Amino acid sequence: MTGSPLARQPNPLRNPFRPGNGVPPPYLAGRDQVLAEAEDWLLEEPPLLANWAITGLRGTGNTVLLGEIVQRAERAGWLTLERELGDRHRDDARLAEALVDDCEALLARVDAFAGIGQAIERGARFLRPRRVAVGELSVEPAYESGRAAPADAMFASFAALTAALEASDRRGALLLLDEAHLLADDGQRDRYPLSSLLAALGRAQRQGPRVRVVLCGLPTLSLNLKRARTYAERMFRHVVVGNLPLDAAGDAIAVPLLGSGRSFSLGLIDHVVEASGGYPYFLQFAGAFACSRIGLSRVGRADFARVEEAMIHELDLAFFEDRFEGAAPTEQALLLAMERAGGRATLTRITREAGPGVNAAVGLRRLIDKGLVYRPTRATYDFALPLFAGYLRRRAELTALS
Ligand SMILES: Nc1ncnc2c1ncn2[C@@H]1O[C@H](COP(=O)(O)OP(=O)(O)OP(=O)(O)O)[C@@H](O)[C@H]1O
Ligand SMILES: [Mg+2]
Repeated sequence: MTGSPLARQPNPLRNPFRPGNGVPPPYLAGRDQVLAEAEDWLLEEPPLLANWAITGLRGTGNTVLLGEIVQRAERAGWLTLERELGDRHRDDARLAEALVDDCEALLARVDAFAGIGQAIERGARFLRPRRVAVGELSVEPAYESGRAAPADAMFASFAALTAALEASDRRGALLLLDEAHLLADDGQRDRYPLSSLLAALGRAQRQGPRVRVVLCGLPTLSLNLKRARTYAERMFRHVVVGNLPLDAAGDAIAVPLLGSGRSFSLGLIDHVVEASGGYPYFLQFAGAFACSRIGLSRVGRADFARVEEAMIHELDLAFFEDRFEGAAPTEQALLLAMERAGGRATLTRITREAGPGVNAAVGLRRLIDKGLVYRPTRATYDFALPLFAGYLRRRAELTALS
C-alpha cells in the first residue's frame, strides 16, 4: 500500500485518544449521573451511607472515576487523598501503617488551614497510642506486643482526623483507595486487613462521618466487604462501573474527534461501539489505533477494516497477553476451561471442563489473587478482563493452527 494514506507514518494529524491506565480520557462519557450522585453524597450530612465502594472490571474506568471524584470533592471543600493499594497491604499491620501515614498527611493539611496544630498530640502515637481522646471519641488500646492492634491504630488516626476536622471549617476528609479488592481477609494466613479497616472506620464514623472512604477495585471487592463484616452493607453504597451505554460509547469516540482535524463515519463509530462492547479502554484503544494508522482526515468503515486485524493483534499484546502469560500453566489451563464453559460458570462446570488432575478451586483462588478472575456471586466465577473470552478463543485457534 505504498503511497496510500493508510500507510503514512508518522501520522501528521493529531491523535486525541488516550488509551492507558488511569489516564483521564479526552471526553469522559456516560458518567454524569454517578458524578452528580457523588457530589450530592459529599453535601449530605450525614449521608444515608457513609462510604462508597466502586467496582468494575479492568479497564472500565474505575481509576479515572476516582480521579474525577477527587476533583469534585476538593472543589466542594473536602480534603482528599488517593492511594493505590498493593500486595503488601494484604497485611493488616502494613495497611494500618499506610493509612496512619495518610491520616497524618491529611491532618497536616487540616492544621495548615485551621492553625490548630496543638489540638492533637503528634508523633508515632497512632501506631502506639496511650490514649487518643478528642471530642467524644477516645481509645485506650491494650498492648500485647508493644504495638497497637492495626484496627486500633487505624481508629486512632481516623478519630484524631475527625476531631481536627470538627475544629476546622473543612467539610471533611475523603480517603480514596484504589485496587481495594486486594484487601480480602485471609483466615489461613491470619490476616484481616478488610475487617480491621471496617471495624476502625465503623467506630470512628459513629459520631458522624467526617472522614469518609471510597474503596475502588474489581467486583470481588463487593463480596469481600460482605464477608468481612455483616454490617458493611450499612456502611457502603455500592456503585458499579460498567461498559458505557451505546450513545455514551459513541460520544466517547465522536466528541474527542471534534476539533482534531479528523472525523470517523457514523458507520465506523457504530462498528467500534459494537465491537468494543462499550468498554472504555477498548474505545480509547480503537480510536487511537485508527488515528495512528490511518492518515485520512475522514475515516470510513472500509478504511478501518484494513487495519482491524492488526489492531486486534496489538490489543491482544497490549492488554491480554502479559496477563495470560503471568499465570502458571495450570492456571492458564483453567482460564481456557472457563472459556469453553462459556465464561461465567460454576466451580462444578469449570472442574468438569478442566478435566482430571486439575484442582480448580485452588487454581481459581490464585487467579482471583492475580486479578484475572472474580466471583460475581458466591457460586460462580467470571473473567475480570472484559472481552477476555474472545482473546482466549483467538489464542486457542492460533495454537491449534500451529
Ligand atoms: N467514561 C469514560 N469515557 C471514555 N473513556 C474512558 C472513560 N473511563 C475511562 N476511560 C478510558 O479508559 C481507560 C481505562 O481507564 P481506567 O484506567 O480508569 O480503568 P480501570 O478500571 O481503573 O482499569 P484497571 O482495572 O486496569 O486499573 C483509560 O484510557 C481512560 O482514559
Ligand atoms: Mg485502575
